[in-house]
Amino acid sequence: MAEILAAGEAIERALALLEGGDVVAIPTETVYGLAGDASNGVAVARIFEAKGRPRFNPLIAHVADHGMAYRIAEFDPLSAKLAEAFWPGPLTLVLPQRPENGIHPLVTAGLDTVALRMPRGFGGELIARLGRPLAAPSANSSGRISGTTAQAVAADLGDRIRLVVDGGATPVGVESTILKVEDGKLRLLRPGGIAAEEIEQVAGAKLLRGAKGIEAPGMLASHYAPGASMRLNAQHIVRGEALLAFGRNRAENWRDAVAIRNLSETGDLREAAANLFAAMQALDRSGAKTIAVEPIPFDGLGEAINDRLARAAAPRDKIA
Ligand code: TXA
Ligand code: MG
Repeated sequence: MAEILAAGEAIERALALLEGGDVVAIPTETVYGLAGDASNGVAVARIFEAKGRPRFNPLIAHVADHGMAYRIAEFDPLSAKLAEAFWPGPLTLVLPQRPENGIHPLVTAGLDTVALRMPRGFGGELIARLGRPLAAPSANSSGRISGTTAQAVAADLGDRIRLVVDGGATPVGVESTILKVEDGKLRLLRPGGIAAEEIEQVAGAKLLRGAKGIEAPGMLASHYAPGASMRLNAQHIVRGEALLAFGRNRAENWRDAVAIRNLSETGDLREAAANLFAAMQALDRSGAKTIAVEPIPFDGLGEAINDRLARAAAPRDKIA
């Protein structure tokens, strides 16, 4: 069962767990978050595992200050103005990523954008001490409502995580508002803790509403789609294909593959999840027209891995 520690005495323990690649439930002003080091793929895989999420949605990267945010993403003037006005606070901005920004591709599901937020209170202090951003979705198992007290989080996730930091009931109680600037216009991707009217006042313009196709949070096409086509459950390799391997046993004729990445030599699904997006991108860069994928079991994180692969294998006009 997870330990529950008051925020005032939890910081050292939380830091030790995060530095060890583990996850910790922390209070933010919106809802509790299930946090892991955003630069550590195995830590991020553990977040999905603990939530039992059947798919890899992109997560919010939480930062301690504006400097950390500016090192991770490119800020257009309007996004910068909103960050100045509302951070720290319940606002998330979706922005283009800077190269080599340390954000693990499992955080962004391989997208070239990243969702950033600067939380108030314990989370901000913890991130400043860690010196790295924290990936954190709401601290609830998949399909349940977001936890707004440490007790609710412990009751839901307590047998899967080691620490819940108790900061009392979260003051805002709903998730952050998610915004994205597109061609100088501001789009509301998810309504949340800051009212649209408040944002419109600062922005000096109306918000566009309704996610535009591929930008919708949680929608399928918001995920990285490789240029190569994918062939799943491959038992053998056709000359010219690239191979996405898993475990110790190779598909027949595997030496004919033009490029190979193994998601996990030992068949560890957590490691495989952490490697998934980078491996798909690397094989895509090999120029192969087809990526053959060895069978991957469906247990644990295997469900989310297979979900992602099935989307990548679907006909492109179905991914919209
Ligand atoms: O208040 C909150 O936002 C809480 C606390 C813990 O910070 N977090 C939260 O995270 O609600 P989560 O993972 O439950 O929701 C994040 C949303 C998802 O709908 C996801 O699809 C969207 O953000 N998102 C993340 N990255 C994105 C991106 N690059 N483009 C579009 N949407 C993105
Ligand atoms: Mg959530």
